[in-house]
Amino acid sequence: MKKRAVGLSVLMVVIGILVYFGVMAAIPPRSNLVEQPILFNHIRHQEKDVECYDCHQFYKKYAVAGIPDTELCYSCHKSDKDLKEKEEKRKLHNYFTKKIEIEWQRVNTPLPDDVVFNHKRHVVKDIECQECHGKPEELVDTRRLVEDFTMDWCIDCHHKEDADEDCLACHK
Ligand code: HEC
Ligand code: HEC
Ligand code: HEC
Ligand code: HEC
Ligand code: HEC
Repeated sequence: MKKRAVGLSVLMVVIGILVYFGVMAAIPPRSNLVEQPILFNHIRHQEKDVECYDCHQFYKKYAVAGIPDTELCYSCHKSDKDLKEKEEKRKLHNYFTKKIEIEWQRVNTPLPDDVVFNHKRHVVKDIECQECHGKPEELVDTRRLVEDFTMDWCIDCHHKEDADEDCLACHK
């Protein structure tokens, strides 16, 4: 009897584990918990008054905001005294000297292909980056600098701001 009870509870645990991993496999991983090649710290830069625009410069020309290249990072950091002491800075130094671009992983889930979004259209209207991306200074883990962009969220603001709410404004 006892043996059977033990066997049964082992079986239950095994089934439990299988169900757990089955469910975990079915749920896509949270997009905001990616591993970055360098643990880039948004808060630290924000504290030092490095502006969003200093690094994400592409919006001036393109629809995207863009991620800075290694050279831009290095232009600020090349003469740091702790460049070779701090682990994350040493990595930056290595990328630069080996002329390899840092392969940043995307944090936000990209919008579906049929949706039109353009940073410039919004930035020229004096909408702050933080209005859509949250406040980095309030976030502990910079990899969580994430918003799930839903249609309702877009439309809510368009409604408030008297912007275009026509389906074809946002869908091709
Ligand atoms: C406009 C100048 C500027 C640019 C561009 C810049 N940084 Fe920084 N960074 C700073 C300042 C200022 C600090 C705070 C002082 C320090 O720790 O050196 C800092 C801090 C850091 C630190 C130390 C953070 C910590 O936890 O103490 C790392 C690592 C770093 N930056 C990496 C990068 C990378 C990677 C890029 C490119 C994506 C970059 N920086 C671009 C100015 C800049
Ligand atoms: C010093 C350079 C630097 C500054 C300043 C900076 N960023 Fe970034 N940002 C990066 C780098 C590098 C990445 C890619 C690594 C990561 O996701 O942490 C990134 C990633 C992001 C992402 C995620 C993009 C994606 O989907 O993968 C958003 C959103 C973002 N930044 C918004 C902002 C906002 C808003 C500000 C101003 C409050 C800001 N950034 C300031 C360098 C910077
Ligand atoms: C009106 C809302 C809004 C504003 C304002 C905004 N963003 Fe974005 N941002 C988005 C959306 C939505 C996406 C996802 C776009 C996609 O997947 O095509 C995004 C994506 C990004 C990305 C990753 C992809 C890319 O475009 O490079 C970065 C980095 C980023 N934003 C930074 C910024 C910065 C920096 C500012 C301020 C200059 C800013 N954003 C202003 C909504 C906004
Ligand atoms: C914080 C407010 C805000 C959010 C959030 C926002 N928008 Fe906008 N959007 C605006 C404003 C304001 C304009 C009007 C700009 C103008 O008049 O040129 C605009 C303009 C646009 C346009 C140009 C429309 C035209 O006239 O052709 C498109 C496309 C667009 N937004 C798509 C989106 C999408 C897609 C999202 C969500 C992923 C989004 N927006 C989220 C405020 C917002
Ligand atoms: C202000 C921008 C905006 C407007 C206006 C808008 N949508 Fe969307 N729509 C989006 C965004 C952003 C998504 C993607 C949301 C997501 O991935 O969760 C979306 C998703 C959808 C989807 C899901 C399929 C897909 O493309 O991923 C449908 C269907 C849809 N919209 C239909 C409509 C219809 C019909 C209208 C007009 C009544 C409309 N939308 C107006 C921004 C908009």
